[in-house]
Parts: sequence; C-alpha cells; structure tokens
Amino acid sequence: MSGRRDKSGEGLVIAIDGPSGVGKSTISQSLAERFGCRYVDTGAMYRAVALLARQKSVSLEDPEGLAELGGGMEIEFVVTSEGPGVKLQGEDVSLSLRLPGVSEEASRLSRFPEVREVLVEKQRELGRQGRVVMEGRDIGTVVLPDADLKVFLEAEAEERAKRRYLQWKEKGIEVPQDQLAKEIVSRDQRDKTRKVAPLVPAADAAVIDTTRLTPDQVLGRIHALLEERGLA
Ligand code: DC
Repeated sequence: MSGRRDKSGEGLVIAIDGPSGVGKSTISQSLAERFGCRYVDTGAMYRAVALLARQKSVSLEDPEGLAELGGGMEIEFVVTSEGPGVKLQGEDVSLSLRLPGVSEEASRLSRFPEVREVLVEKQRELGRQGRVVMEGRDIGTVVLPDADLKVFLEAEAEERAKRRYLQWKEKGIEVPQDQLAKEIVSRDQRDKTRKVAPLVPAADAAVIDTTRLTPDQVLGRIHALLEERGLA
C-alpha cells in the first residue's frame, strides 16, 4: 500500500505504537471515531491466540501449534453500546481478553516469528482496506511501514500502572497497583528485547510522552501532526 496516496484523507492509515498502559487504545479509538476509520487493536489478536491456546490446551512453547490457532481464528472488531469490542469465533471475548494472565501469555507467544507472520498478514490485509487506525507494538516498523502517520506513545511505568489500576477499578475489579506495575515492567522488557519486531519507535514516528498529558492534549498534538501533513 502507498502511504501518501490520498491527501484528502480518503484512505487515511494511522499507526499507533507503544508499551502497555500508555493510552494507545483511548487515543486510537478517539482518532478512529473522529476520522471515520476502522479501529484495529492488534494486541487483541495476540491475546486471542493466548485465549484459544488455553481453550484448546496448546502449549505456549509450541510455535507451530500457536501459529495454526492464529491462522485459523476468526476475529472481528465490533462497536457495541459499551464501545469497541472483540468477537472471537463469533463470541464476545472483550473482557476475557484483558485478564492479566492473558496479557502475560500474549506477550510470551508474541516472540515467535511463526505466530507473528500469520497475524501480521491479517493486519496488513486490514491495512490495505484503508481508513484505519491500528495500534500495537510494530505497526509503524513492520506491519504498515507506509502509514500516513506513525505515532509512538510513551509514559513513565508508574503512571501506566496507575492508569491500568483505574481501568480495572472502573470495571469493578480490584487489582493491586504494585502487581500491575511489576507485570507492566516485565512485559515491556520482554516486548522490547525480543528478536523479532521488538517494541521500538519507527525512525519516522512522532514520539509523544503522555505521562503528564490528558487524552485530549495527546489528541490535540496528533491532530496538529495530521494538519501539518494535509491529512486533517
Ligand atoms: O497491546 P496489548 O497489551 O493488548 O498487547 C498484548 C501483547 O501482545 C503485548 O505484550 C505484546 C504483544 N503484541 C505484539 O507483540 N505486537 C503487537 N503489534 C501487539 C501486541
């Protein structure tokens, strides 16, 4: 696909990358809504493979078996009255995908090239359809290197753990903040140091530190970047 093909925003493709708890989902969902784009959460795809592996008792150390699950799964990004959700094999899995154990398992299986290959192909196909905001770890570097705009969000680990804590609390689930902080740090470390598609900003990504910014302020900065490029 070609990134700059359409200055009117017809085929707008935006890549949002960064570690967990940095605000990727909030920002990506708002952008998708504002620009009438499809929102694609690629982390949900890795999580979905983890969930299927649990259900089908496939080992997290079996790259071929996991890749087969990923290749065969039917995943749908839907918009419900409660916001964006995910259906896996026709069933709403929006909440189960976010369980802390699933996050850890998704991060572990995401290091296998076999798994990444099948999921990246699905992600590129969604990208080719245009008008998409896609969030993940390697969207600007690997999945959609021709994206019209690449943003890499970062924030201090403590702040990210606090945000996760509040998100769980809002759902009525109390998870100790220090446990979340530990999980975030170990998952980031694994995601950043893996051999294939590690979490790094693309050379041409705009890096935004969201630690002391509200979602509206982050959106304001991204809007300004889109305007500069004649895309908004
Ligand atoms: O964004 P998330 O927390 O839902 O992602 C879960 C895990 O999936 C994350 O720890 C690493 C992996 N992941 C990835 O390797 N590449 C992506 N594009 C998205 C997620």
